[in-house]
Amino acid sequence: MLTKEKNDLITQTGPGTPMGEVFRRYWMPCLLAEELPEPDCAPVRVELLSELLVAFRDSEGKLGLIDEFCAHRCVSLWFGRNEESGLRCPYHGWKFDVNGKCVDVPSESPEFCKNIKLKSYPMVEKGGVLWAYMGPPDKKPAEPEYEFCTVPSARRFVSKRFQASNWLQALEGGIDSSHVTFLHGDNVDSDPLFKGAGGNKYNINDLQPIFKVVDHDDGLLVGAHRNAEDDQYYWRITQFLLPSFTMVPPRGDYPVHGHFWIPINDDTCYA
Ligand code: FES
Ligand SMILES: [Fe+2]
Repeated sequence: MLTKEKNDLITQTGPGTPMGEVFRRYWMPCLLAEELPEPDCAPVRVELLSELLVAFRDSEGKLGLIDEFCAHRCVSLWFGRNEESGLRCPYHGWKFDVNGKCVDVPSESPEFCKNIKLKSYPMVEKGGVLWAYMGPPDKKPAEPEYEFCTVPSARRFVSKRFQASNWLQALEGGIDSSHVTFLHGDNVDSDPLFKGAGGNKYNINDLQPIFKVVDHDDGLLVGAHRNAEDDQYYWRITQFLLPSFTMVPPRGDYPVHGHFWIPINDDTCYA
């Protein structure tokens, strides 16, 4: 078990926390692309790493991820009107572009909005996912190139679900080969991700997998072996990629799949 101090250190990801700084060096899945389906569609509230934001796609299709609250009287811009290349606050009509820059204040001269800007983060679309980068601009890494981002959309499936646990509790399940025997053991013959795969019998027959973990530049390789025929082992190797991506080894010819465990705040996450 981790001590409370260590647990807090690794699960708290708000601004200024050490682990929050780690997450802020990576592009993180933020929304499914289909949640912002077209230019000028309704904006979407986003909570990510304990920051309250709003995402929108402007009239030109450009993506914006900005502070949820208006720079004037803090009205939620989720209520805003997404129109003519910006999000307009419903209260007094201040308007913000995808970079958070105020571009119109109806009650004042054009000069007035010159120095008004909301916090904003870059967001890109790759692989049916909208990715956000929330770290220092000069440390921004290359855009995501996971394999599923590089194949035609007909050859991938992406989904998103809420999980009422912190990101680390969720991630643990992603690299935990051991629970497969116990939790999934009863339905390997019917589960579409297990059915008919050659290795299932080893999973079922050996309740005591042995783990070996190897470091690599991007994270860890987590190997678990079980007894197979004669003097052979059946290995399953799960990849953990920083900061919170796990890839489940496929069975037989089944597709590669994996999970990003993305902190909404310190208590909940999206998979
Ligand atoms: S609160 Fe947004 S324009 Fe006044
Ligand atoms: Fe599982």
